[in-house]
Amino acid sequence: MNKRILLVNGPNLNLLGTREPATYGHDTLDDVVALASRAAGELGFEVRAVQSNHEGELIDAIHAAREDCDAVVINPGAFTHTSIALRDALSGVALPFAEVHISNVHAREEFRHHSYLSGIASCVFVGAGTRGYEFAVRRMIEVVSA
Ligand code: DQA
Repeated sequence: MNKRILLVNGPNLNLLGTREPATYGHDTLDDVVALASRAAGELGFEVRAVQSNHEGELIDAIHAAREDCDAVVINPGAFTHTSIALRDALSGVALPFAEVHISNVHAREEFRHHSYLSGIASCVFVGAGTRGYEFAVRRMIEVVSA
C-alpha cells in the first residue's frame, strides 16, 4: 500500500473560486486540495494533486498513479461528458476511483447528465459542493483499506 490518493481536477477547475460562484461556490482549487489533504492526512494518507486543462496530461497523471497511488479521486470537469480516453485510462490502470462533481449535474443541462466515467467508478459524489472531494477521499481510503 502506498498510502497515497491521486486527486485529479480537469479543465476550468483552476478557476474555482471565481468561476460561476452561484454554481461552484467560493472555494478555490487550493482550498479543495487542502480539504482533501486534511481528510487524507487524518487517515494516514497523502494526496497528490493534479489539475490540467489538457486531456492528455490528465491521462498521463492517471497512468503514473499506477506506480505509487492506491486510488484516484477525479473531477473530470467537462471531459466527464466527452472523454472515452479518460475512461479507458482509468480502467487501464485498474485503480479504484471516485468521481466528484461540485454541482448537481443532474439538475443542469441535459448534456451534463451523461458521464463516461460513472459506469466504472467505485462511487460518485454529485452536488455536495467541494465537500464532495472530502467524502470521496474518505470513501476511497475505506475501499482500499478494506
Ligand atoms: C463539474 C460539472 C461539469 O459538467 C462541468 O463541465 C465542470 C464541473 C462539477 O464539478 O460540477 O467543469 O464537473
